[in-house]
Amino acid sequence: MNKFWDNYPLIQKELEDVQRIMKKNVKSNEKYLEKPLLDLINSDGKMLRPAFLLIASKFGEYDKNKSENLAAVIEMLHMATLIHDDIIDESKLRRGQTTIQFKYGKDYAVYMGDYLFSKCFLMLSDDYSMENMKKISKVIAQICMGEIRQYYFRFRQDVSVKRYLKIIAGKTAALFVMSFYIGASEAKCDERIIKTLGRIGYNIGMAFQIIDDILDYTAEEETLGKSIKNDLKQGFFTLPIIYTLLEKDKNLEELMAEKEISDDDVIEIINIIKFSNGLKRAKKLALRYTERAFTLINELPDCESKKIIYEITERLLKRKY
Ligand code: IPE
Ligand code: IPE
Ligand code: MG
Ligand code: MG
Repeated sequence: MNKFWDNYPLIQKELEDVQRIMKKNVKSNEKYLEKPLLDLINSDGKMLRPAFLLIASKFGEYDKNKSENLAAVIEMLHMATLIHDDIIDESKLRRGQTTIQFKYGKDYAVYMGDYLFSKCFLMLSDDYSMENMKKISKVIAQICMGEIRQYYFRFRQDVSVKRYLKIIAGKTAALFVMSFYIGASEAKCDERIIKTLGRIGYNIGMAFQIIDDILDYTAEEETLGKSIKNDLKQGFFTLPIIYTLLEKDKNLEELMAEKEISDDDVIEIINIIKFSNGLKRAKKLALRYTERAFTLINELPDCESKKIIYEITERLLKRKY
């Protein structure tokens, strides 16, 4: 089981239940159908979103079964987006394993992602409120919109910080908001607490994607467990590069003007980024979102869940994977 939650045995145990629920739901007599998904479930995902959902529900009337089922849905939804994201990004590695798209082909990966999405809706149709069903559909639309926006603006040097933030709010922060929000609202928390938790999710999610984008330039593939130095090649100009471009380095502008960025160019561009203030400034913005999350966490009633959210938020800023 994943090591991210090692220090929190209770959550760790609940996440094991969540994994069991996911496995049950992708079970099939046809091995070729279940194997790629079981492999992904068994791999080292951090399980952040389901964990946040469980933690948030503990601010209200915690119903273990209900929360764990919902947590399984949210993680499966996340997995479906990863499977599709790896197709677009041509990634070979995910969670330390060969991606579905690389191992089985892109067509297969499209089907697998779609299949997981439909499983999520099937699970949701069981006994959850229509309002939350609506919210989840909205989030899926937001994630798609974020990815579409990112794709539309690829290879464009004029992606502004503002546009970047709008992209990541959709493709990443929205699901963090949802995890907190839906956990708390299904547990019938106080309206004010639900709102605060949702805002905490937003700030954690924004910081999380900024750090992810920094790690794409700075991390080692083995530690990160996924393909690195990928964003540039795909033409996705993320925050470190956006800040570096603001420094108006002629060499960089020329290197990036090409529609195709070669492996050599990638190495050179990364060197320029490392010598600029791009990474530092990006880290600073991640810190700002994290501090906003801390302020909001302080508004929560004192309890074990509050402490855990605080510690994890802090850890996510320093994460290496
Ligand atoms: C990866 O999310 C996708 C992003 C939003 C950056 P995670 O880093 O949470 O992926 P897993 O679930 O741990 O593999
Ligand atoms: C996040 O963006 C993808 C999703 C929200 C599905 P990335 O493309 O940066 O995620 P990784 O780096 O592949 O995990
Ligand atoms: Mg990707
Ligand atoms: Mg990334």
